[in-house]
Amino acid sequence: MNIKLVKDCQKFDLELIVLNSLKKVNKKDKNLLKLSGFTAQENKSSFLSCNKKYYVGASSLKGEDLKIAFSNAIKSLKQFNATIIKISLNIDNKEYKLEELVEGLLLGSYEFNKYKSKKKEKKLDILIDIKNSSKTLQELEKSLRQAVSICSSVNLARDIVNTTPEDYYPKIMANDARKISKNNSLECKVFGEDYLLKNGMNAMLSVGRASRHESQLIHIIYKPKKDTKRKIVIVGKGLTYDSGGLSLKSSEGMLSMKCDKSGGSTVLGVMNTLKDLNCPYEVHGIVGAVENMIGGDAYKPDDVLKAKNGTTIEVRNTDAEGRLVLADCLCYAQDEIKNIDYIFDIATLTGACLIALGEYTTGVMGHSEKLKTKIAKAGEKSGELVAFLPYNRYLFDLIRSQVADISNTSSSRAGGTITASMFLDKFIKKENKKKWLHFDIAGPAYKEKSWGYNPYGASGAGVRLILSFIENLK
Ligand code: BES
Ligand code: ZN
Ligand code: ZN
Repeated sequence: MNIKLVKDCQKFDLELIVLNSLKKVNKKDKNLLKLSGFTAQENKSSFLSCNKKYYVGASSLKGEDLKIAFSNAIKSLKQFNATIIKISLNIDNKEYKLEELVEGLLLGSYEFNKYKSKKKEKKLDILIDIKNSSKTLQELEKSLRQAVSICSSVNLARDIVNTTPEDYYPKIMANDARKISKNNSLECKVFGEDYLLKNGMNAMLSVGRASRHESQLIHIIYKPKKDTKRKIVIVGKGLTYDSGGLSLKSSEGMLSMKCDKSGGSTVLGVMNTLKDLNCPYEVHGIVGAVENMIGGDAYKPDDVLKAKNGTTIEVRNTDAEGRLVLADCLCYAQDEIKNIDYIFDIATLTGACLIALGEYTTGVMGHSEKLKTKIAKAGEKSGELVAFLPYNRYLFDLIRSQVADISNTSSSRAGGTITASMFLDKFIKKENKKKWLHFDIAGPAYKEKSWGYNPYGASGAGVRLILSFIENLK
């Protein structure tokens, strides 16, 4: 899909009009629309062949409502043979926000066709008529460029997550990190298992031991043109497959576990857009890319592992592997990067998060209320749903171990998302406690159904949320 801003729209096959009321529609169209049974509500649409206008209903003309309406519109337009579609930015003195319109179109029209033998690729030109817009062409062009960049990074994260575990293993993830870095002039370091061994990263190393694919620690660095003192670190769980290990998942539970690289994919997506947004801060993206498999060399329940910061961990369940990988990656980040301002980790960490919050919401945990408020704002602005889960002293008792410093599994399923986060907290240095947040995206990262402007499969959860947090810092 190609989106262009035009001042006067000459040639088009079809005009798309999204509206939430029929009030200002001209009399002739209104009568025809009424006749066709069209009400200007979400999920309603009507095509007037006499003047080539396609009307689509919306709950309102802003935010998520607008994105969903444009997403519905572009999906239903696939049945038409139109290749040039006109949209007017200003309809009846109400102006669509360009970024929201573009997100609706680009995120809503995403399809993952990599494994289809017959690919249905249709060329589509979207001409956005800005004639009556209150903004300057320059402002609008900047908004368009940035929105397109953000959406292509969300769609990149979706592509990565949707790719099969046979085709997408840690070294492929490392190659993607290199490609993204090259395209955006970022620094990229990749470390293999020798490095993990030499640097005492035994928690991460153990998780990947039974895999035929070597684990990779990926570190991408974005530095702004002007020197900055502010540093943001984002660590992602990149389990290219999670079979559960010897604490093997059920066949049902294992299905879709290619999604366990979602956190790492989000990190790659974020790093892919910082340059386009002209981000004024130094940003570090770190991914622990590992495959959790079974075999004679697999790590075992009962093992005790020593993490990079010396903490010993009793393994009581090899399916609680994400926290082991993140523990070492968080240690690496804090050892290598000094004077951090914000450190986030993002992961499909616990099934319990879906139970707690429902499948659309990211669970956020941490010690700083101020930082959580910033994330709540980024959630509202980006449209990603977030909710905050609270710590308490009693829950911490559940991850105590009789044999090591800490257990990787809580003694109770209740509060499993919070206890997982408390485990990670053990690997956060004192000086970084208030700078750290943990994001559990097990719910929204992947679904076998489409929702809003998210497709079947991966959603790219977290990319827009984190980018909008960074943008709001200005
Ligand atoms: N990757 C899973 C969590 C998950 C579940 C992500 C469903 C997406 C959808 C994680 O590694 C896991 O298996 N967690 C266990 C932890 C338990 C063993 C303490 C879980 O949630 O059951
Ligand atoms: Zn697991
Ligand atoms: Zn996992």
